[in-house]
Amino acid sequence: MLQVEDIHTYYGTSYIIQGLTLEVKDGEVVCLIGRNGAGKTTTLRSIMGLAPPQRGLIKFKGEEITGKAPFSIVRMGIGYVPEDRRIFPDLTARDNFEIARRGNSRKSSGGWTIEKIYEFFPKLRELEDHKGTEMSGGEQQMLAIARSLMGNPDLLLVDEPTQGLAPLIIESFVELIKSLKQEMSILLVEQNASFAFSVSNRGYVIDKGKILYHGSIDDLRENKEVHDRYLAV
Ligand SMILES: Nc1ncnc2c1ncn2[C@@H]1O[C@H](COP(=O)(O)OP(=O)(O)O)[C@@H](O)[C@H]1O
Ligand SMILES: [Mg+2]
Repeated sequence: MLQVEDIHTYYGTSYIIQGLTLEVKDGEVVCLIGRNGAGKTTTLRSIMGLAPPQRGLIKFKGEEITGKAPFSIVRMGIGYVPEDRRIFPDLTARDNFEIARRGNSRKSSGGWTIEKIYEFFPKLRELEDHKGTEMSGGEQQMLAIARSLMGNPDLLLVDEPTQGLAPLIIESFVELIKSLKQEMSILLVEQNASFAFSVSNRGYVIDKGKILYHGSIDDLRENKEVHDRYLAV
């Protein structure tokens, strides 16, 4: 589904992503975990073409996407839910969907409609006339994820969805990610390792722009060094 091979990304002269390689196979949830400032967001921005890598190769469904514009990457079938969620606070939930739908020319397998989204997220039907500003953090995050589905993605990149959410809400996101997994592959960026481990098939640990470790979730769970050195616990 996604192959990232030895990418190097800079912000100006700051060398941020330093030869990073990772892969997401069809149907997988893969997590990328690491401390604040490790380079998780920059990795996602590199994939989306928002911070194009200077060197390296990114392939999506076998086709090279390195250097393509973000909108064409979205059209090819990658959905992106950024860290700050970026929903329109003054628009209702429904209008947030409408805007995403109008911007989407992509017809595909997923066939997400507002109706299908409401079946998936019954809570959002109740909130459809609420403005972004009237929603809780968890509801806004749900809306941001749901809205990205309007682009019918085959791969979803989600940046720290549980950040700032209460434990009970985080628990409900476990089920959410698991059901989304039936419909698409997911690359999940997290600082919350226990959440990431409970929904993922495999994981990568990033620090200072490099992958330090990758393996199955069981391997990651049992690896004490990974926990002590690279994950905030
Ligand atoms: N726009 C930017 N300009 C310069 N440096 C940045 C910018 N955004 C992030 N950085 C730096 O890049 C590094 C990685 O940041 P980021 O990818 O946001 O990490 P994470 O998402 O893992 O917290 C950090 O040292 C951060 O300070
Ligand atoms: Mg980040």
